[in-house]
Amino acid sequence: MADYLLEMRGIVKAFSGVKALNGIDLRVRPGECVGLCGENGAGKSTLMKVLSAVYPYGDWEGSIHWDGQELRARGVRETETAGIVIIHQELMLVPHLSVTENVFLGNEITTRLGTLDYAAMHRRAAELMAELKMPHVNVARPVAQYGGGHQQLIEIAKALNKRARLLILDEPTSSLTKAETAILLDIIRDLKRKGVACVMISHKLDEIEAVCDTITVIRDGRHIGTRPMGELTVDQIITMMVGREITELFPREAHEIGEVVFEARHVTCHDIDNPMRKRVDDVSFSLRHGEILGVAGLVGAGRTEMAMAIFGSYPGRHGLELRLDGQPLRVRSPQEAVEAGICLVPEDRKRHGIVPLMGVGYNITLSVLQHYARLGLIDEAAELKAIEEMIARLHIKTASPLLAIRGLSGGNQQKAVLAKMLLARPRVLILDEPTRGVDVGAKYEIYKLMMALVKEGVAILMISSELPELLGVSDRVLVSGEGRLRGDFINDGLSQETVMAAAIGQIAEAA
Ligand SMILES: Nc1ncnc2c1ncn2[C@@H]1O[C@H](COP(=O)(O)OP(=O)(O)OP(=O)(O)O)[C@@H](O)[C@H]1O
Ligand SMILES: [Mg+2]
Repeated sequence: MADYLLEMRGIVKAFSGVKALNGIDLRVRPGECVGLCGENGAGKSTLMKVLSAVYPYGDWEGSIHWDGQELRARGVRETETAGIVIIHQELMLVPHLSVTENVFLGNEITTRLGTLDYAAMHRRAAELMAELKMPHVNVARPVAQYGGGHQQLIEIAKALNKRARLLILDEPTSSLTKAETAILLDIIRDLKRKGVACVMISHKLDEIEAVCDTITVIRDGRHIGTRPMGELTVDQIITMMVGREITELFPREAHEIGEVVFEARHVTCHDIDNPMRKRVDDVSFSLRHGEILGVAGLVGAGRTEMAMAIFGSYPGRHGLELRLDGQPLRVRSPQEAVEAGICLVPEDRKRHGIVPLMGVGYNITLSVLQHYARLGLIDEAAELKAIEEMIARLHIKTASPLLAIRGLSGGNQQKAVLAKMLLARPRVLILDEPTRGVDVGAKYEIYKLMMALVKEGVAILMISSELPELLGVSDRVLVSGEGRLRGDFINDGLSQETVMAAAIGQIAEAA
């Protein structure tokens, strides 16, 4: 028994009577990295919140043994003192505080006189940035000045600073680039060598395979199995997760591609902080009826900015010309875009996609409420029917359409944002990283939905950093790099190598 650093037994946790966890066991040895796998809504984040006492002792049933003793922590501070440190799925940084202040929040270094020792904290923060291969980060500047990937690494720095004996990483790589992910995986390996244990949650099973020694799979709040990584293939993990075999990852179906419906010309976006710099520099493309046009590129290539500019939501200076069915179109706000039939499912759902405290259903019908209005009144029965159809079609896991969307698991929130845009019956649908944080089964559902939409003639522009996905579903692929278009390829057996070479500027425009 003393073999284990951590033993969780028979954990049960309910939210308003609904059991999110229904008798789960989890064991971790010192220096071991356990991969916690399961579909969206399986209960992974909830289990880790029980462990870290975000949900304190008494709020759940079962027992936790830590280092041979029963742990009955009343709050995160107690578990942190014990050496259990969690990096949450959603970032917890305070945007206007400096990098240093965030890293030391609640954990400040003081001088002998009791004042804050900024010199020591800045020094340590800078060391951590160097360890995470981000020496260029100015630790005295506000966190808000850095992009999503950097913020995620700053969050990791904050955790590393706490001297964990068990580090919990809840989807730590969802906004990291490939290079940043590699750095993080190296750090995990290094921690393991120092005897630090990890629990890692990720929908990217290749990462799980790369660092985990043991896999625990949960489904619908129940423990399905625990095995050494060496005995499992990625396919077997998927089968354990979803309870059935998934034979094909990308449902590509034949569909007809018609005339050009949508054109964007000379899209240019200036950086918000530094208007001299162009994030997107004179990009033009056209999109055909029933076409899936993928947009590949490295993170920071300006793809999100381009999508926002088209949708009327780019906050900085920008310029562009749009045409729909050959007619010039002006879009001054997302509202106007939706009315014209252009919809965007944004990358950062927490900031642009949802109203966290409102119900799931309300979030879904938010942008199309007028469809259910008759004589100025909302036809609630029709609205509810539409909501229920969407929840069923996308398999959104929620106890009720009235539940605040904040209570949904990360992947299910993403599906709700997608549902909202589908209800607007778009002619042009822009998807920015639509499967981020979404489990394998649900990814498949999203691809199938995309196929159904293009068969109805919808034109889809899909931005994705997952090349296999992009090549798996797109008819044509645009490659962007440093704000410019660097390639436009028909996807007829297109290879990842070709796309990557174009992204880093090694192939001139082809096809
Ligand atoms: N605060 C809450 N209120 C109500 N229900 C909740 C709350 N938090 C979680 N749940 C429910 O508990 C279940 C498990 O959610 P959890 O966030 O643990 O899933 P997950 O496995 O982390 O999924 P994902 O891969 O999407 O992040 C879900 O059905 C979710 O709706
Ligand atoms: Mg989660």
